[in-house]
Amino acid sequence: MKIAISGKGGVGKTTIMALLAGKLRQQGREVLVIDADPSPHMAQTLGVGNAEEVKPIAEMTKLLAERAGKSEGSPFYNLNPDVNDLLQDFMIKHENIRLMVLGAVQVAEGGCACPENHVLRKMLKKMLLTAKEVVLLDMEAGVEHLGRGTVAGVDQLLIVVIPSRSSIRTALKIKQMAEDVKIPRVLFVANMVQDEEDRQFLIDALGEEPVAFFPDSSTIRKAERSETAIIDLEQGLEDAPEQLLQAVNAK
Ligand SMILES: Nc1ncnc2c1ncn2[C@@H]1O[C@H](COP(=O)(O)OP(=O)(O)O)[C@@H](O)[C@H]1O
Ligand SMILES: [Mg+2]
Repeated sequence: MKIAISGKGGVGKTTIMALLAGKLRQQGREVLVIDADPSPHMAQTLGVGNAEEVKPIAEMTKLLAERAGKSEGSPFYNLNPDVNDLLQDFMIKHENIRLMVLGAVQVAEGGCACPENHVLRKMLKKMLLTAKEVVLLDMEAGVEHLGRGTVAGVDQLLIVVIPSRSSIRTALKIKQMAEDVKIPRVLFVANMVQDEEDRQFLIDALGEEPVAFFPDSSTIRKAERSETAIIDLEQGLEDAPEQLLQAVNAK
């Protein structure tokens, strides 16, 4: 299963991915999280302490070029995160969660982090996963990645929305693009929901019901301020992490 997340900046994508990673781990799944945000902070959210040690995927481009020169065919043939030595070098494992980071992206002329995104796209497409393995892709804000087709290889896209018009506008645009690149499953996830009015606003504006409603949570805010991991947080989140888990598993 390969799941990407999108939505307007600051709506809670990284937070929700970390909480989903925690639930999947609890379920006994092997989770690989890929942090593709140019200013990554997934490591802290997950509680992976030594994140600086992880070699960014951006550096893989060089290595791939070397390998491609030596061998016939795609170096991504039969990629499997468990056994592939190439991938092992670029990930860090912490309590059954593996993390990869795209890295400090050097943006080329025209604002495109093309080589990195190319590697990411290839990796997502070619990675062969067992039923137990899940890849979670955390992305920067907006629709850029969809535009470049980076996420075309995922089976599910979560679009995070908060009860605001601008977040809804972005979400609907993302949904349209996701359909254009034929992502099989697109799910809305509501975040920072305070009351029934927020809930109803989201349902009406989206034209469908989000699969999970994450409440506005002082525990999450406090954790962020004290730089504490939130991966195992359950308190004060109502049933939202469980609802999300069930929705992504419902395929
Ligand atoms: N449900 C929530 N309740 C309270 N604060 C939240 C919630 N979700 C996210 N936040 C806070 O909002 C900020 C942005 O969240 P983040 O996950 O980094 O968003 P994104 O990845 O979409 O940019 C962070 O400070 C985070 O702690
Ligand atoms: Mg983020």
